[in-house]
Amino acid sequence: MSAPLLPGQPHIHYAQDQLQVEGCSLHDLAATHGTPLFVYSKASMLDALAAYQRGFAGRNARICYAMKANSSLAVLQLFARAGCGFDIVSGGELERVLAAGADAAKVIFSGVGKTRAEMARALQAGIGCFNVESEAEIDVLNEVALSLGKRAPISIRVNPNVDPKTHPYISTGLKGNKFGVAHERTLLTYQRAAALPGLQVVGIDCHIGSQITEETPYLDAMDRMLDLVEAIEAAGIAIRHIDFGGGLGINYNGDTPPAADALWHKLLAKLDARGFGQRHLMIEPGRSLVGNAGVCVTEVLYVKPGEQKNFCIVDAAMNDLPRPAMYQAFHGIVPLRRSADDEQEAQLFDVVGPVCESGDWLGRDRSLHVRAGDKLAVLSAGAYCMSMASHYNSRPKAAEVLVDGEQAHLIRQRDSFADQIRGEKLL
Ligand code: LLP
Repeated sequence: MSAPLLPGQPHIHYAQDQLQVEGCSLHDLAATHGTPLFVYSKASMLDALAAYQRGFAGRNARICYAMKANSSLAVLQLFARAGCGFDIVSGGELERVLAAGADAAKVIFSGVGKTRAEMARALQAGIGCFNVESEAEIDVLNEVALSLGKRAPISIRVNPNVDPKTHPYISTGLKGNKFGVAHERTLLTYQRAAALPGLQVVGIDCHIGSQITEETPYLDAMDRMLDLVEAIEAAGIAIRHIDFGGGLGINYNGDTPPAADALWHKLLAKLDARGFGQRHLMIEPGRSLVGNAGVCVTEVLYVKPGEQKNFCIVDAAMNDLPRPAMYQAFHGIVPLRRSADDEQEAQLFDVVGPVCESGDWLGRDRSLHVRAGDKLAVLSAGAYCMSMASHYNSRPKAAEVLVDGEQAHLIRQRDSFADQIRGEKLL
């Protein structure tokens, strides 16, 4: 029997009741590499990218993978080879994309707190665009560019004041958020930027939030952006590209975000209707390219019955999978091996890690049939898991495997103790 676990995600499935990623058994991968272990499907990442590519067929568009979602080098390399640009937010991310072989000209640099050193390095590397997020940043970038005898290509990130209807921590396009330049001040800011000799205006951008599951916020933000482009160009400043950011959600727990191609079909219809269909378009998707392409395999260490709750204590924790602790996020949790009596024998468990905090939980009230030594897969773990992992409780960072059909590539080895203390010094 073989059925996909998540609709639209055929590459992570049970075969003879054993969970597989593409043609590789997760049980075998865990036996070889240990747990906790992140396993990604290459085909699933490329399928997700293909949905955007279909959506933009025949258009002048660039997909800049928002690498914060999963910044492992091999994942970056995969997207670079597939023709993507990258959205970065730090000097470290810049070094990573360069190390992965990306073309600097296809890199855009977002973020509210770029340092002078980061700006200088990005200018030297020749990145495609700085997505400037404040009036103060404009002056600093102008100074840094002039000191290097360069002109920095810029786009101003507009805060369109649109509610993306998502978790408050990952909503970014509302007035109360720290991101971007207020809609009302945008024209003025463009006029200031256009007058500075160290800057060259090339575009405009926005990003309204993450895990967005409705199309209306995108349509609203697009209208507000296009109004601005009209006003800015009427003031004599040319806008070469329009960047609509990322944010498209994935299915964690029955969520039904629009498919990328369907969403862009609608958005492009609006662009066409308003006469912007032939512009150079950019987007910055992160989660929707990698989120449902990965699982985290973990071993059950102890089953601990309690008066109020049963705990299933596993060897992955909030340092590996921080999203439940940070956002009360839901990730599906399923056994690597299914058996006929699972449903009958199942009990309710809180699935928790070994970290010494009550916030260290991965799933609450999950119906599972488990014993110590069993292995589980935490689903939808391709985005914002390994990239947000830490060494908290002096736990090593997990290993990562990228599966390509029957082939499994170890793309990150588990941290050794030496890795953890590198750079530290005794008194
Ligand atoms: N562009 C910018 C400027 C961003 O800040 C982000 C994400 C993206 C693009 C990509 O958004 P995506 O397509 O992945 O939704 N750690 C949180 C998500 C934080 C998102 C931060 N910005 C989580 O685990 O839900």
